[in-house]
Amino acid sequence: MPRKVSYGLDYFAMALHFAANYLLNLLIFLFWFTHYSLEQMLHLSLVRMAVSMESGNVQFVHMTMMKVHFVVTYVALFMSILPLMANKKMRCCSEGRPEYRRGESNSKGKEAQVLSSDNEMLVPSVHGSKVSSDCESESSHSRENMNLTAPLSSNLNQLKLGKHPIRNKKVNSETKYQPEEWMLMEKEPEILKQLNLAIVGHVDSGKSTLSGRLLHLLGKVSKKEMHKYEKEAKEKGKGSFAYAWAMDESTEERERGVTMTVAVAYFDSKKYHVVLLDSPGHKDFVPNMISGAAQADAAVLVVDASTGSFEAGMDGYGIGQTREHAQLVRSFGVEQIIVAVNKMDVVGYSKERFDFIKSQLGAFLRSCGFKDSSIIWVPLSAVENQNLVTTSADVRLSSWCQGVCLLDAIDSLQTPLRDVSKSLILPICDVVKTSMGQVAACGKLETGAIRNGSKVLVMPIGALAAVRSIERDSISCNLARAGDHIAVTLQAIETGHVLAGGVLCHPDYPVQVATCLELKILVLDIPTPILVGSQVEFHIHHAKVAGRVSKMVALLDQKTGKVSKTAPRILKGKQSAIIEVRLDGAVCAEEFSKSKALGRTFLRSSGTTIAVGIVTRIVERKS
Ligand code: GTP
Ligand code: MG
Repeated sequence: MPRKVSYGLDYFAMALHFAANYLLNLLIFLFWFTHYSLEQMLHLSLVRMAVSMESGNVQFVHMTMMKVHFVVTYVALFMSILPLMANKKMRCCSEGRPEYRRGESNSKGKEAQVLSSDNEMLVPSVHGSKVSSDCESESSHSRENMNLTAPLSSNLNQLKLGKHPIRNKKVNSETKYQPEEWMLMEKEPEILKQLNLAIVGHVDSGKSTLSGRLLHLLGKVSKKEMHKYEKEAKEKGKGSFAYAWAMDESTEERERGVTMTVAVAYFDSKKYHVVLLDSPGHKDFVPNMISGAAQADAAVLVVDASTGSFEAGMDGYGIGQTREHAQLVRSFGVEQIIVAVNKMDVVGYSKERFDFIKSQLGAFLRSCGFKDSSIIWVPLSAVENQNLVTTSADVRLSSWCQGVCLLDAIDSLQTPLRDVSKSLILPICDVVKTSMGQVAACGKLETGAIRNGSKVLVMPIGALAAVRSIERDSISCNLARAGDHIAVTLQAIETGHVLAGGVLCHPDYPVQVATCLELKILVLDIPTPILVGSQVEFHIHHAKVAGRVSKMVALLDQKTGKVSKTAPRILKGKQSAIIEVRLDGAVCAEEFSKSKALGRTFLRSSGTTIAVGIVTRIVERKS
């Protein structure tokens, strides 16, 4: 039975219905618009239209009104979309997105890319990141949300927290870098050249004792402090470690009598302002030792002269850290080495013992690539203070040793070359959060120069930051040049973006971020051969990431360096080869020919260094 319609009342009701519906629709679409993407909105519109159609097929008049209603609604929708379209486009760039971090790929879809006014490719920046100051912290591999709130501005003042862009594209890499005048200026008042000196060697060889004693003799550790260390060490039954306590500051290090992290101290010799990097000798802390070695201009290799101890340090297969440390420092480009033959008091300052050590270790150091002329041998005793800052007064030593003391040996080292003509590269060794809530990146400036106010690019994330202040030996300075060991406090950057293992570089000359690299390696003494698929721990500057050998390109002739066999199946100890390594994450890297600091690498497995090498090609970059 057809329904009776009262047209006058119905039209009024329908007009009301129409107006209410129109307003409701508008509100609904505005709500959708602020909460959904365009695609989602279209989908919801279609669903809504279908539902409305179904309810509107009862009567012809109603149908007609519904059609009018649809037309008006969608015209209104379209009208409201137009002005919002522009906003939406901008808003797209600020929606939460995953951040990529060192050692991790961005798997949650593409990052929106927009062109800034100066035609640089930008991607969103991050908000609400956590601070991580530990390069080995797994938190550095976590994902966090990103927000772009403002485009890049070349004006430093506009680089406010949370309003910085992230760059992920090479900008000016092909253009020749031209250093500015202030970077090259060398006519500063007579200040001592900085020398980064790594103290390395087998566990318990006396590195910290030697370092502490040296600092005490040079007035860097006061008598009062020394007295305190002696008293406390004695109380804990560790009397012999009193000098080592000047370097080993943590409770665990002191209790165990083992250095765990690199201790940094400073002293002045006649020629140098020395940055002393006392490394751990224990096998378990080799990755930490590497941090020190990576910054070294020269090294002091401390060996224990006592019977059996020197031999233990020379053991193969990663057991003897004298060997491993020597190989590592050489692979980091250290050419000058002082061998401090310590604990000579234990062997009665025996010349025979010293000569034996010199011949054994000398042959090994030559095999690592150290030239005889770059090795200085110093027999000494840290505990008995013989041959440290003055030549030995003990006749048992002075009768046959006319060589230099340790301090003079340091002064006889050649001034390391500083490359200020290249663009800024500062591999980040450590990250410290300042009391003001800002973040400071610490490390050795490898190339270029930096000053307060400089803009820097923090890689591998690709975020811009501004240099707020620079500290050298905890003293603030206006600028620093290649070779300086500094702490750079950054502003206008999320603290979580600055991670140990990353790199600070010039914004227009970003370093590469690689996920697969071709390496030329020298395989060390290893018990099991390297195969395609072998899992490795890939180390480069201060970064460490897991990876696997993905390809064996060629075996090289040791003498000529030429290819002796293509695609070898296995690699054994002492062989040289070209291989490809695919990483589980991404690291800042450059071909060795372009940057020595970012092109030196080594591979570790089962707690032992299995190969040292250089980057010959970046096979795959992180886009
Ligand atoms: P790690 O950092 O753990 O590798 O040890 P280390 O090389 O720093 O050795 P450390 O300075 O902790 O000294 C280890 C032990 O060797 C301590 O008991 C020292 O007293 C002792 N020692 C260091 N130098 C000498 C020395 O010249 N003569 C004698 N007799 N003992 C020494
Ligand atoms: Mg130590």
